[in-house]
Amino acid sequence: MAPEGSAEAALLLRSFECRFLAARALSSFPWQSLEEKLRDSSGSELLLDILQKPSGDSITLCESTAIISHGTTGLVTWNAALYLAEWAMENPAGFAHRTVLELGSGAGLTGLAICKMCRPRAYVFSDCHSHVLEQLQGNVLLNGLSLEPNAVALAQHPEHDTANAESPRVTVARVDWDVVTVPQLAAFQPDIVIAADVLYCPETVLSLVGVLQKLSACQKDQRVPDAYVAFTIRNLETCQLFTTELGRAGIPWEEVPRHDQKLFPYEEHSEMAILKLML
Ligand SMILES: C[S@@+](CC[C@H](N)C(=O)[O-])C[C@H]1O[C@@H](n2cnc3c(N)ncnc32)[C@H](O)[C@@H]1O
Repeated sequence: MAPEGSAEAALLLRSFECRFLAARALSSFPWQSLEEKLRDSSGSELLLDILQKPSGDSITLCESTAIISHGTTGLVTWNAALYLAEWAMENPAGFAHRTVLELGSGAGLTGLAICKMCRPRAYVFSDCHSHVLEQLQGNVLLNGLSLEPNAVALAQHPEHDTANAESPRVTVARVDWDVVTVPQLAAFQPDIVIAADVLYCPETVLSLVGVLQKLSACQKDQRVPDAYVAFTIRNLETCQLFTTELGRAGIPWEEVPRHDQKLFPYEEHSEMAILKLML
């Protein structure tokens, strides 16, 4: 096949794969182009590529097909969740044997990837919305992880840590950034705080910076947690509001070098970034 033809085939394959992995309706698959491509090609490589789906450890998620449902954005996986998960999987040492607190976990993809691939000691998924929390608990169980009933007990009984080092201690907690207090956050004893795709409107930006400020008052072994926020650059003003508010809150930040997007079915043309915050 000519190089141009193979680039086209790669695009077609990618589009097929994204729809397949995201369990899109069959009618949305690029059947017509696929048929044309198969007619044009002399060999069966394209067909083989399609049939040989990526293998490896998997994550199973129950999620909504609508971007907003039940009045929340948290029932679907957003692009920055994939991006943060891929970055974590490339940097597992940052998570290994540590307690991770995730803010606004949504459907749970990032956390499940970290639990399966980065060997954290404990992982606290959190969100504020009842439907999201319910779905999140279901997704944790769906992936063979057991749930600790109480996030604070999890932080306070480290003797369990070595008992089952293969599997992190996992909990799902209701954490509303606007109402959670410093002592409640400190009780989780996080070593690292992460959040993905939580910068979608000015109100959430302000709430997020508020909770980050509270986290900067939480110390574990005289250290404040590391913090990473991943986001999709949809609206430059919202991103700028975030960095401006971080500045106002006295939280320095730096951008983490961008990484390739090769593991997951990302939306096309979306640009993501991760900021490391010095709380
Ligand atoms: C766009 S979704 C992103 C979900 C997930 N992190 C992802 O990237 O797929 C934003 C999430 O932030 C949560 N959220 C928004 N405001 C919140 C607040 N004030 N306190 C806690 N969670 C909040 C929502 O419930 C929702 O699950």
